[in-house]
Amino acid sequence: MHDLAVSIDGSIAKVENSLQRLCRGITRGTSKIREYTAKLISEHIEKIRIQLVNKLHALVRYLLKLYINSRCIHYFKTIMSIAKPLLDYAKSLKPQKGFTQSFSAFKRLMQYHRRYYWFIVAIVILALIRSILFAVEPLYTTLIINNVIGENKTNLLWSYLLVIILAGIGYAISNFILIFVHGVMSQYIVRDIRTEYYRSLQSKSFSFYDSVGVGDLTSRATVDLQLVDQFLRTWLGTILNAVFTTIVIIVIIYPISLIMTLISMATMPLIFYFTTRLWLDTMPLFRNMQLIIGRLSSYIQQNIVGMKTVRIFRREKDLVEGFKQVEQIYVNTAITAGKIQSIYMPLGPAILTLGIALVYVYAGYSISIPGSTLTIGAIILFARYMLRLTFPIRDLSQTLGTWITAYAGLERILQMEDAPRTVEDLPDAKDIKIEKGKLELENVTFGYVKDRPVLNNVTFTVQPGEKIAVLGATGSGKSSLIYLIPRFYDAQAGSIRIDGTDIRQFKLASLRQQIGVVLQDVFLFSGTIKENIAFGKPDASIDEIVQAAKAAKIHDFIEPLPRGYDTLVGERGVTLSGGQKQRITIARALVTNPRILIMDDSLSFVDAKTEQEIQSAIEEATRTRTTLIIAQRFSTIKTADKILVLENGSIAEFGTHDELIAKNGIYKKVYETQFVQKASTILEETGDA
Ligand SMILES: Nc1ncnc2c1ncn2[C@@H]1O[C@H](COP(=O)(O)OP(=O)(O)O)[C@@H](O)[C@H]1O
Ligand SMILES: [Mg+2]
Repeated sequence: MHDLAVSIDGSIAKVENSLQRLCRGITRGTSKIREYTAKLISEHIEKIRIQLVNKLHALVRYLLKLYINSRCIHYFKTIMSIAKPLLDYAKSLKPQKGFTQSFSAFKRLMQYHRRYYWFIVAIVILALIRSILFAVEPLYTTLIINNVIGENKTNLLWSYLLVIILAGIGYAISNFILIFVHGVMSQYIVRDIRTEYYRSLQSKSFSFYDSVGVGDLTSRATVDLQLVDQFLRTWLGTILNAVFTTIVIIVIIYPISLIMTLISMATMPLIFYFTTRLWLDTMPLFRNMQLIIGRLSSYIQQNIVGMKTVRIFRREKDLVEGFKQVEQIYVNTAITAGKIQSIYMPLGPAILTLGIALVYVYAGYSISIPGSTLTIGAIILFARYMLRLTFPIRDLSQTLGTWITAYAGLERILQMEDAPRTVEDLPDAKDIKIEKGKLELENVTFGYVKDRPVLNNVTFTVQPGEKIAVLGATGSGKSSLIYLIPRFYDAQAGSIRIDGTDIRQFKLASLRQQIGVVLQDVFLFSGTIKENIAFGKPDASIDEIVQAAKAAKIHDFIEPLPRGYDTLVGERGVTLSGGQKQRITIARALVTNPRILIMDDSLSFVDAKTEQEIQSAIEEATRTRTTLIIAQRFSTIKTADKILVLENGSIAEFGTHDELIAKNGIYKKVYETQFVQKASTILEETGDA
């Protein structure tokens, strides 16, 4: 639906665009219109600049409004720490890399065109027709001057005029169709790029997401892709237009005078050079401005997400100061771009005028030679064609400028797409069914960063159906340990085996489908309870879903709801308590009926009643399964068969409750402290009551 709306919007924009081009196309050639066009271009640039400045102002205003509306000042401390990286980023924006580096990205972009070669064929044909029709009018105007006015053959006037009018209409129509076809092709290609980008994100490893921000990833698919889109809309048509128009015009004017043809052609590279310089030098600046804006909005987005958890204290001056500085960089960039424009912009028309003057000088000289066949009409023809050539050439320069920015955007998209996947299927990986669920870790060493292991030489075995509670201080590596089992990350050394088979022998999909995972952060998608439970098995029957919900002890809550399992949760749905959400995520892990269940600490922040609810869910869920459960509370630990105590990434103790108590080590100490604490809490509570 959204896609449709976007494509309708796109088509409307394209039609509008074509109409503008149409008007311009028909009247092009008269000097008044030429001035007007030049003015339009500079106004357009100015408009972009003003728009960007306005956007920044609006964002600053928006932030200030947020500030006034909320009294959560800690929020502004967050913003301040946000303004700083933004500032660093804005300062770090460097001039663009040149064309040569962009060549491989261009080839990559061309590969996306391969599927649409019929569009390309159509564009080539249309561009050729367009260039030919574009060149008709001066030729026939000269015929009118020479034959109708010069030789008084008035009977020819109407046929000449008819040709001019038909060519004008034909030009407008072919131009319209070309722009339309080009636009459609670019929409398809942008869609393909976006799809591939999104697909590549789905297969990225966890370590990839550790290193990139959400805002950054989204801005690549939006802001950067938009830059590519701008290029894709016109590039081929523009290049073909320059090439074909030059050829057609040379073919027409060459027979009249070789020297005059050479003079007119000599000015074109100069005009091309200076207009290209203009675009190449200014586009990167415009792009930097756009990037600053993009960053700003992604930071704000980040910020809003974190807003709820804030506390109060005043930092508004720092905030405004931070943004002022970013804005200063922004404005300076805009001023530099303006300076470059004021240098290069007038050069093109100046060179053109010079070239026309040269043609006149030469023509005046040769017409004075007795026996010259040069006519006044021919001289005017030359001047008119020189004018006509400058338009495609300027457009070509602009396309080069758009490419430079598009390239920067494309590179940022491809960079993410090409980021290596650290966890992948081995070539000979298989679908293997986990029968018993015996889990063995042998000398497992793992770290997120090279040479900084968070797990050292971890070795232990979990027998089928056994339940192991993992205990340890924050940062001791508990979560990291359980992430290794479904291969969210790969261990650097050692091996992990399930029923005697190394987990790397499994296909990732097969492995993950048979391991139920309950993460520490509860995340429910917007949708119904049913959809959320069946997330890992979309084709689950309602029986399976109810079964999972019963095992997670949440069925009795869901069933009496007016819409039962079809109740909406998430943004617009029913409000669930932490314990209810947690139990839905447990049901979600159980719906595939996994042999192995791993659960990150789900009880550390909940109150006693919720703890009890979740506790009974856990007991039910883990009864028959091999389970690793990270736990802080003894209500969980006491139901485990064995306890594994982690300390700084190594196993400190491993054994049953009784064994570890007898060992008189860390476990016993922790047990006693918590027991005493719990006892005192109970005492306090009774005291209060
Ligand atoms: N994604 C990550 N990237 C880098 N380091 C991490 C990442 N996640 C955790 N760590 C580090 O690894 C260590 C172990 O963390 P973790 O396994 O989460 O401990 P626990 O779950 O026991 O609190 C900590 O020092 C933590 O800072
Ligand atoms: Mg953890």
